[in-house]
Amino acid sequence: MKRDFKTILITGGAGFIGSHVVRRFINNYPGANIINLDKLTYAGNLQNLTDVENKPNYTFLKGDIIDSLFTDALFQKHNIDAVIHLAAESHVDRSITNPTEFAMTNVIGTINLLNGAKKAWANNAEGKLFYHVSTDEVYGSLGATGFFTEETAYDPRSPYSASKASSDHFVMAYHHTYKLPVIISNCSNNYGSHHFPEKLIPLAIHNIKNNKPVPVYGKGENVRDWLYVNDHASAIDLISHKGKVGETYNIGGHNEWKNIDLIHLLCKIMDKKLGRPAGTSEKLITFVKDRAGHDLRYAIDSTKLQKELGWIPSLQFEEGLEKTVDWYLANEAWLNNVTSGDYQKYYEKQYVQR
Ligand code: NAD
Ligand code: DAU
Repeated sequence: MKRDFKTILITGGAGFIGSHVVRRFINNYPGANIINLDKLTYAGNLQNLTDVENKPNYTFLKGDIIDSLFTDALFQKHNIDAVIHLAAESHVDRSITNPTEFAMTNVIGTINLLNGAKKAWANNAEGKLFYHVSTDEVYGSLGATGFFTEETAYDPRSPYSASKASSDHFVMAYHHTYKLPVIISNCSNNYGSHHFPEKLIPLAIHNIKNNKPVPVYGKGENVRDWLYVNDHASAIDLISHKGKVGETYNIGGHNEWKNIDLIHLLCKIMDKKLGRPAGTSEKLITFVKDRAGHDLRYAIDSTKLQKELGWIPSLQFEEGLEKTVDWYLANEAWLNNVTSGDYQKYYEKQYVQR
């Protein structure tokens, strides 16, 4: 049976994945009120949503989930029947520099939202849902073989993944202790449009375009399982409407790439798109100091989601990567906007001074 929500609160909707989820929900559910709550940190950008910002079923609220007075008032004011929680500090490198900020937003922020939902739904939680968007990084690091399943024991190894693992545990604890209707999904690495250029793929596209070094950590041997962001959004849509309360679903693309092989493919695509002789962009590849505690390999087994709910990813990786490159090349203004100001300071500290 499909759930029918009237007012859906999406947190972190001005970020990379959140903006794709907000757009999808606005378009797919014109009869529902879609509220996007976002603090607009460096990673949140309302330009990500200009195409849907005037839709009658859309409201944007600026706010901080660390502020419990704000989150409590939010649930009192709006008759929220579903929360799709994406707001988070999301970059592993930043978590290594500033773990506390990650604990505050990812753990305390999640608890504040859980408390708001618990109070609002105390008398009747029927048909309500708290959907927590999490990551495969909570499962730790794989060797050369094997996959993360929903039964894999948590083993977070970075401050970011530790904060996400902690938030996952709180979400399940609220289900078991207070009967809060919750679902969690744990997804692999996303790529696509509107991805902030501190992450590998958009950073490499940006640097190749500007003839700057492409930094590859260590030997580039680490493996990630890449999923097109719209396929993550489609999975969130499906799971929030048809998934089983109290369950966890793994989402992934069965699409593993060593970082160095991915960068070679990206260089090939960029040479073609920019009309440069083949091999030009490869010369920009620069091996730099490895990330501290760098997880070797992530790989998701999404059999449960595919078998129980019939989800399948829509795009092959090369096609998705070409689409992504096309978007960045056509949206120079977006890229220039997000890489001005604080980004320069971040880049200098992360790559030039170390
Ligand atoms: P992002 O960094 O692009 O966006 C995060 C958003 O949250 C931003 O709009 C930011 O302004 C907002 N935010 C941050 N702190 C806030 C606060 N205190 N209050 C309110 N809003 C706040 O992140 P993303 O890559 O889109 O990831 C979204 C979610 O998906 C995160 O929970 C992340 O852990 C999870 N996830 C990401 C990936 C990935 O590959 N990017 C994969 C799996 C899961
Ligand atoms: O697995 C899901 C996770 O994927 C999400 O939960 C995180 O929010 C998201 O940021 C992402 O984490 P990663 O650390 O895997 O993504 P990132 O793009 O930072 O790095 C991908 C790989 O590329 C990783 O092995 C580190 C490496 N890397 C990264 C950067 C930024 C480089 O070699 N050079 C770089 O400059």
